[in-house]
Amino acid sequence: MNILVVNGPNLNFLGKREPDIYGKHSYHDLVNFLLAYGELNKHFIEVYQSNSEGEIIDIIQNNYHRFDGLVINPGAYTHYSYAIYDCIKSIPLPTVETHLSDIKNREPFRAISVIEPACIGQVYGKGFNSYIEAIKLLQDKGEQK
Ligand code: DQA
Repeated sequence: MNILVVNGPNLNFLGKREPDIYGKHSYHDLVNFLLAYGELNKHFIEVYQSNSEGEIIDIIQNNYHRFDGLVINPGAYTHYSYAIYDCIKSIPLPTVETHLSDIKNREPFRAISVIEPACIGQVYGKGFNSYIEAIKLLQDKGEQK
């Protein structure tokens, strides 16, 4: 499968930001982990990150046509970006929302995702493996077709 991975604000600070919650590994480590998984499992994966809502939408709109599925960690935009929700609704790609941390067991505002209804699934609380589970959900969906 060709999988587009998009990461939102502050994920570039992995390893520096709240390591007790997000872990000690850097954003670079996350990208390498995903690309290595892709190579091993014969997926073509591209990974993007932006701290801006509009740029996240531009990345999705400009690239979705080259991919079979989207994995998105919208960071804090998860909890209030109807613009990203609309963007996901407007493309024909199955999308899985993913989070490193357990958003259901942190501050109450994190338990709510406005993105989730636009997605075929949501994976959280498994660190880097949240992304792998998200990819597997896309794969299962692809095999059902
Ligand atoms: C996050 C969870 C969000 O609530 C937070 O704003 C992030 C990261 C996660 O991966 O756990 O920036 O999406």
